Amino acid sequence: MSDPKPADRFEAYRDVPLDESTVSRDPVIQFQKWFADAVESGVDQPEAMHLATSGKEGLPSGRMVLMKEFSSGGIIFFTNYHSRKGREIEDNPNVAVTFFWKELARQVRITGKATKVPGSVSDAYFQTRPMESQVGAIVSPQSDVIQDRKSFDEQFTRELQKYGTSTPVRPGHWGGYSIIPSSYEFWQGRPSRLHDRIRYRFEHDQWVTERLAP
Ligand SMILES: Cc1cc2nc3c(=O)[nH]c(=O)nc-3n(C[C@H](O)[C@H](O)[C@H](O)COP(=O)(O)O)c2cc1C
Repeated sequence: MSDPKPADRFEAYRDVPLDESTVSRDPVIQFQKWFADAVESGVDQPEAMHLATSGKEGLPSGRMVLMKEFSSGGIIFFTNYHSRKGREIEDNPNVAVTFFWKELARQVRITGKATKVPGSVSDAYFQTRPMESQVGAIVSPQSDVIQDRKSFDEQFTRELQKYGTSTPVRPGHWGGYSIIPSSYEFWQGRPSRLHDRIRYRFEHDQWVTERLAP
C-alpha cells in the first residue's frame, strides 16, 4: 500500500484528541514533542513564531521572528536591541508568542518575560551567520525610518567591502533574547470546531494543567 497523501496524514491529526491525561506534565517536553511532529511532517519553517510586545503606552505590536532554541532555559531568538520590539521589551519584558502549524491543525500560545541572553551566547550565534547577515545586522538601524533603499544598499556594500576576508564582530545593538514562559496553551483543531485546548500555568512551583472551552 502507498503512504497516505500529506493532506490525509495532516487531517489525521484532527482525529487525535489532546487530553489532560496524556499530555506531558512538563510543557517543555510537550512543546518539544509537538515541534518534532511539525518537523517530521515537513511543516514549512516550524520555528517561525509570532511575537507580541507592548511598550510603556500599552499599545501592542506583533511580528514574526525565528526561534533558535527551545529548552527549559527558555525560548531564544535574535534581533536588533534598538528595534521597535527591542525598545518595547526594554520598557515592558512581558511578551506573548504564538506558533501555528497549519498542516497539523495545531497552535501553541506562550506568555512570558524576555531578557537579553549573555553576550557570549549572542557572540557564538553571530559567528555562525553568513557574512552578509552579519554586515546587515551591523548596518541596519532596524525599525528606524531610512532615506531610501539605494543609499542603504550603498552603505551595506561599502561596509561589506571594508571587511574583505576579516570576520565582523557582533555589534552591541544586536543579540538574543530568552523568553521564560509563565503559561502555555496547546490547541489541537478538532472536527466541527470542537477544538481541544490545554493550558499550563505555573502555580506554587509547579505546572498546573486545565482544559479551556473551544
Ligand atoms: C518568517 C519571518 C521570520 C523572521 N525572523 C526574524 C528574526 O528572527 N529576527 C528579527 O529581528 N526579525 C525577523 N523577521 C522580521 C520581523 O518580522 C520584523 O520585520 C523585524 O524584526 C522588525 O520588527 P520590529 O520593528 O517590530 O522590531 C522575520 C520575519 C519573518 C516573516
